Formats: sequence, structure tokens, C-alpha cells
Amino acid sequence: MTVTSVTARVPAKINLQLAVGPLRADGYHGLVTVFHAISLFDEVTVAAAAADGVTVAGEGADHVPADGDNLALRAVRALRKAITFRDGAAPDAGPDGQGGVAVAIRKRIPVAGGLAGGSADAAAALVACNSLWQAELSQQELCEVAADVGSDVAFAVLGGTAVGRGRGEQLTSALVAPVRYHWVLAFADGHLSTPAVYGALDRMRPDAPEPELDAELMAALRAGEADRVGAALGNDLQAPALAMFPALRKTLAAGREFGALGSLVSGSGPTCFFLARDERHATDMSVALSGAGVCRSVAKATGAVPGATVISR
Ligand code: C5P
Repeated sequence: MTVTSVTARVPAKINLQLAVGPLRADGYHGLVTVFHAISLFDEVTVAAAAADGVTVAGEGADHVPADGDNLALRAVRALRKAITFRDGAAPDAGPDGQGGVAVAIRKRIPVAGGLAGGSADAAAALVACNSLWQAELSQQELCEVAADVGSDVAFAVLGGTAVGRGRGEQLTSALVAPVRYHWVLAFADGHLSTPAVYGALDRMRPDAPEPELDAELMAALRAGEADRVGAALGNDLQAPALAMFPALRKTLAAGREFGALGSLVSGSGPTCFFLARDERHATDMSVALSGAGVCRSVAKATGAVPGATVISR
């Protein structure tokens, strides 16, 4: 049977720890991070077409490039190149030998929010095209292609809870207790540029130490103790993100006031996330945060969840 279209679902990520080291010669920062995939999903459909193209709908769609700079399209090209290298020929997607792919992205993950939404779409495009082209790359091979597309793309393929090193693309799944954590996300009214936040950190902290994994956070995750996980959350990018977006201080303070076990800026921000004691507390905290007027909107999510997955073909 020739498959003509495949849809994949892909989660947002938060960083439970993000330790940033010195700026490297290649313009990236060495880091140690604990990625955690949460149940806030984008969906990406790929279909055989005469030429590559992308459309974007949903949350923040206007801010996503719909041209060759789109990360999902870059992922399609990277996968095609990897398959061509392996098989000696480009994949033939369509029933009439059409070589292109139409990518349709439905966004729920806010754009430029520190939740790796663009990277998620790229990961979904990789997983979906792997199925469309029946290329049968393993998850490990897809992660290798993903690493060249962006620092967070490999994690969006893998999902779960994982330690990232290098610029974030070198992943090891974390040994964690099978606990479902309840998170509340506060979406900000605005965006932050990831390179700008890293640049602000370099100026605030010119002699950065080498990053190290937080042993207490890992012990808390192994034990599955939410209060310890909440207390151990940490993000080196939080200080520069707060300096660039001072309103987030109020958002974080409101979460603490409503009993969050931990409160943190996600990645380079400006989304903030809060760990709730249980589902009921997550609902109460969502209502309270919405009422406090300290953010644009609020969502509940659980984690960890699997990475990019085909949901229909
Ligand atoms: O890899 P990605 O395109 O997601 O990274 C976006 C930007 O974030 C990079 O161009 C760089 O400025 C910054 N970055 C960094 N160190 C990392 C990851 C990202 O400086 N480890």
C-alpha cells in the first residue's frame, strides 16, 4: 500500500535543570540539562507533493517562518539527505514519483516560549517522513539526523526525561521512578529570543564554570518525590530572562504563593512552569494564576510523555 500522508504528534519540553557553561568557539554553549517532555502537543502532517512546502496554523502561527527557514522543512531536507546517502537515491514519496513533501503544522506549543516548539515540529516532521518514505531509520538514527537540525530536536524525538549534554543534543535517558508529575504552564504576553538570552547570561557571568548535573535533582527523580523535584529545579537562563522580561518575577511569585512545589522559567523563557502536588492542585493553581492576571494564559500538562509519535497514516 502506498502511504500518501502521515500525521505525528510531538510534545513540548521543559528543562528541570539547565546549567550553562562558557561560550564555545562554534557560538553555542556547553550545557548540562535535564529535559522533560510534557503533554502539550503540536501535530505535523506530511503528504506527498510536487515540491516541498509548509503551512502553519494555530497558536502563534504568524510568528513561524513558512519558508525554507522553517525548522520542520530543514528536518525534511536533512532526512532526505541522510536517506540518499544511505541508499544512493532520494526517497520517492508519491504515487506518481512526486519527490516533494507538503508539511502542515498545527500548533498548540507557543512560539519562542522556551518550550522548544520549533524543535518539536522538526522532530515530528522527521518521524512522519520516516514513515511516509518507509525509510525505517531507528530512533537512534533519527536522533543523529535531528542533532544537525537544532539543539533540542533530538530530545523531541526521544521524549520522556533525559539528560542532555554538549549543546543539548547528546542524550541519555534518565533513570526515573514511573511517577506522573502535574505541571502548570503560564504563557507570557511576548517572546524572548534564545540567542539574546544566552548573550545576556554571558555578559552577567563572564567566567562561567563548567556545567554539572544536579545530583539532588537526579536522586529526587529516581525516588519520584515531587516535593524534592520541585525544590531542586534550576535554570541558569532564568536570571537573564528575568532581566529582559521583568514581569515574569510576578508570575513566579504568584506560583509560589499558590503553593507550587517549584517554579521556574522554561528554557530561555518567557513561559514559566510550576510543579503541583497533584491533579487537583494543578487545577486550583491554574484557576488562581489565570485570576491573578500575571500571564496571558495558563495550561495544565503532565509528564513525562513519549517523544514524537505517528498517530495516523
Ligand atoms: O540549536 P538551536 O538553533 O536551537 O539554538 C538556537 C540558538 O541558541 C543558537 O544559535 C545559540 O545562540 C543558542 N544556543 C547556545 N547554546 C546551546 C543551544 C543554543 O548558545 N547549547
